[in-house]
Amino acid sequence: MNHRISAQVFDRMVDHLNNGTTDQADSVLHVPVSNFALPEHLARELEVFRRQWLVGAMASELPEPGSFVTRDILGSAVLFVRQKSGKVATYLNMCRHRGGKVELEDRGRKPFFVCAYHGWSYDGDGALRGVPFEEQLGPVDRGCNNLHAVHCEERHGIVWINFADEAPATLTEFLGAADAVLADYGLENSVIHMDKKIHSNINWKLVMDGAIDVLHPQFLHPTGVGKLIQTNASVWQDLGRHGRSFSVYKKLAEKIKAGTVEPEDRRYVTGNMVLFPNVNLIPTPDHFEFWNVWPDLKDPGKCFIHIRFVVDAAKLDERIAGRINRSWEILEQAALEEDFPMEETIQANALARPVGDFLYGRSEAPCQHLHRQMARELAAAPS
Ligand code: FES
Ligand SMILES: [Fe+2]
Repeated sequence: MNHRISAQVFDRMVDHLNNGTTDQADSVLHVPVSNFALPEHLARELEVFRRQWLVGAMASELPEPGSFVTRDILGSAVLFVRQKSGKVATYLNMCRHRGGKVELEDRGRKPFFVCAYHGWSYDGDGALRGVPFEEQLGPVDRGCNNLHAVHCEERHGIVWINFADEAPATLTEFLGAADAVLADYGLENSVIHMDKKIHSNINWKLVMDGAIDVLHPQFLHPTGVGKLIQTNASVWQDLGRHGRSFSVYKKLAEKIKAGTVEPEDRRYVTGNMVLFPNVNLIPTPDHFEFWNVWPDLKDPGKCFIHIRFVVDAAKLDERIAGRINRSWEILEQAALEEDFPMEETIQANALARPVGDFLYGRSEAPCQHLHRQMARELAAAPS
């Protein structure tokens, strides 16, 4: 796994530390408070989600032909299956008889899937295989009763899915410049070392904001991450729909002051990859923190935060596992005890009084991006 910091980003960060500056957006952004509080707005956002390429599963969850994973994503029951060809296919986990789930287990390996209701069965490639008592029930048209396929592509160790009815933009078009960055990360051989699921009373966008907000560490985390990370020093690399938000360890500022900066000090700069709409991918020396923040389907005041720590399978040993576990403890303390409680207060305020707007200042370019991109997507929504 690899997450090189370019000389350009490093130099820009050094300049910021020298001058007390940070990257700035062209203007401040005002986001209506109602965007965090109204179910109608959430419903429009969910339509946007359904047109994007989304993270469905990690490729490592489907290690061999016949491996399957089931998951509910945006209210749809989805079945991922590794094919004999090695490719992954994705279907709605919905029987073509009368809609039961054809697979009830979370994961496993099977040659075919049998609906538990009346026993219709499907091959791993989604083809209808058997219909009990077909002579009396039928006829059942074999060609028209395969499992519904969902657009799906495996790339960068991730199984991406897209719920669009029509052919969506290709994954290559969707990722744009982020494609090369993800290729450099080399996540293909990674495995999930830790998998945490958190249900919270926060709008999904506030959680996304909090994960890349460089204006808050010294205030909200004075004894933790605020001591390590330089508040208000950030480099934002706009990648169109996506982007990278870089922050820096205070250690680099100390080294600049002492005049002892070396090339390997690039390691003090860290970059979050932000993939629209709901992924935050945070490289660390040993592993990647992989955040997926899913909106609730009805309640704008709730979301589901899925955090995975993924690590190169070949490098994972006891020492690295220990370091990753320690890193989860630090994250848990900052997020669960400090970030999420603060975001819950914002959410409660937004729900109590969904008028006016929230301010995203010029120095908050990374946080502005999600809201600007979502506004573009909403404006482009088919009527
Ligand atoms: S609903 Fe699946 S077999 Fe009837
Ligand atoms: Fe925080």
